[in-house]
Amino acid sequence: MAPASLSAPHALSLLAPPRVASGRRRSLSVPVAVWPVTGVSVAAGRRLVAAAAATEMAPAASEEEGKAFVEEMRAVAMRLHTKDQAREGEKEPQAPPVAKWEPSVEGYLRFLVDSRLVFQTLEDIVDRAAVPWYAEFRNTGLERSEALKKDLEWFRQQGHTIREPSAPGTTYASYLEELSERDPQAFICHFYNVYFAHTAGGRMIGKKVAEKILNKKELEFYKWEGNLSQLLQNVRNKLNQVASSWSRQEKDHCLEETEKSFAYSGDLLRHIFT
Ligand code: HEM
Repeated sequence: MAPASLSAPHALSLLAPPRVASGRRRSLSVPVAVWPVTGVSVAAGRRLVAAAAATEMAPAASEEEGKAFVEEMRAVAMRLHTKDQAREGEKEPQAPPVAKWEPSVEGYLRFLVDSRLVFQTLEDIVDRAAVPWYAEFRNTGLERSEALKKDLEWFRQQGHTIREPSAPGTTYASYLEELSERDPQAFICHFYNVYFAHTAGGRMIGKKVAEKILNKKELEFYKWEGNLSQLLQNVRNKLNQVASSWSRQEKDHCLEETEKSFAYSGDLLRHIFT
């Protein structure tokens, strides 16, 4: 299904404007702007330019050889953040920073309901494991649908109406279903970004929203059983292990899906601040 959200103008700059890349953007390994502050000499700088240019021109295989694939996924994702979201972000902000959001409980609930559908969909897909190696990603400890179920029940008990999922959630869920069957590498890109984004920026957003409208109540959505760093590391290891059998072309294809992942997740986040 064509994601309607991708053609819509995005208010949140981490999603906008989705660059339709014909190939993955390859950044220079040493950004020129960094030199003055790192004190690299002009001669050394020239050597770096030459090396970087050679890297840029080299066939795709040489640059990432030996690098854990998750590092590549992370690098692509970090570049799609805005500078005010994360230090490594490269996009110019086109929407207010999280600290300036003025969330409402209704909007936040729409986000939580849609998020639950997306997490439930990811969990169902790996449980079914139509592609055998999806089974590697069962019971990672990062699962969020049960936690969200508890949170929604809490809101209901507080007198709030819990509505059905809305278009951003249902559109993303059907895209994930479809992708998981026809394009496993692209599916894994979403799997990585959804789970890891939630443990990073997602947690930060949850904290800010809780401060503003929930009297600092910490939702189950932001609590993990066990040591979160270890859970994340286990999933990184599995991702690296699974991707080790992929061709360079398959890896690049996975990385190229990152922008879509940002666009879909951004449509969910937009519930909170619009
Ligand atoms: C307002 C929205 C967002 C904010 C404020 C935000 C912020 C952050 C921050 C602060 C980090 C940690 C950076 C570090 O390690 O130094 C991070 C990491 C990350 N973010 Fe976001 N982010 C946002 C949205 C997203 C979205 C929509 C996605 C993709 C769907 C995403 C994917 C990731 C990934 C994959 C990481 C790396 C996590 C890791 O290495 O453990 N982020 N983000």
